[in-house]
Amino acid sequence: MNSYRSRRTEVAELLKVANLSKSFGELQVLTDISFTITGSRFVTFVGPSGCGKSTLFKILLELVQPDGGQVVRGYDSSGYLPQEGLLFPWKTLKENVELPLELRGVPPAEREERVLSHLETFGLNGFEGSYPRQLSGGMRQRGALLRTILTDAEILYLDEPFGSLDAITRDRLQKWLLGVLDQIDQTILFITHDVEEAVFLSDRVTMLSGRPARKKAEISVDLTREERDKTSEKFFTYQKQVFSYIEEENHG
Ligand SMILES: Nc1ncnc2c1ncn2[C@@H]1O[C@H](COP(=O)(O)OP(=O)(O)OP(=O)(O)O)[C@@H](O)[C@H]1O
Ligand SMILES: [Mg+2]
Repeated sequence: MNSYRSRRTEVAELLKVANLSKSFGELQVLTDISFTITGSRFVTFVGPSGCGKSTLFKILLELVQPDGGQVVRGYDSSGYLPQEGLLFPWKTLKENVELPLELRGVPPAEREERVLSHLETFGLNGFEGSYPRQLSGGMRQRGALLRTILTDAEILYLDEPFGSLDAITRDRLQKWLLGVLDQIDQTILFITHDVEEAVFLSDRVTMLSGRPARKKAEISVDLTREERDKTSEKFFTYQKQVFSYIEEENHG
């Protein structure tokens, strides 16, 4: 189903995954994972720690080979924010963040303007000349997120970008990301443990079971931008729906 944010047509499949499985030696990590992404602009994967979420992204990004199943990619370019963030240690924060713009040939003055315009929201103001080792873990993670968002790829894979942030910064960046979606035409695939975050950002939440990860449920979040209010009844209804699958996982 198309959501209010969707701009793609139903026919153009962005990503089709069928019966994916993966083991590392004896350890089975993914079993029979299937899903298709067409209209959605923001798809979140929620599942317990160690179930195989990062492995799933690495397979979709062709960094890890699956044992079985098919992946059909209807896009030419992708961006990736690994769970570990990863900034180049020999570049300053600003040099790291503006890298995708530099690779696209954006002139230095424009690069600087675009990067500096976001630093305040990211709580990185004044640190543009700092090297990664001079930043906190959360600051490095935010820098890496900003760099990935500035990538011009059709699909962005974000692996727990808000994982180590305090609640206040997390809330501010979630709102920023929601606003960014109105300005860009990319589709975002997102991993999180946080149910509230999943509902707040997503058109669709895909619930995974504990290892080996199976798809437990797909919930479409049909909320308008205005309805994405964490204190509203309607928002809470979706959160409850997601939690009911978690309960089932823990007791079933
Ligand atoms: N290259 C590898 N070789 C061997 N085992 C691996 C490898 N990569 C991941 N694993 C194992 O696969 C399982 C799933 O790991 P993965 O990183 O995909 O989990 P995750 O769902 O992303 O967890 P988290 O939420 O904690 O980030 C873990 O048990 C992990 O130890
Ligand atoms: Mg992970």
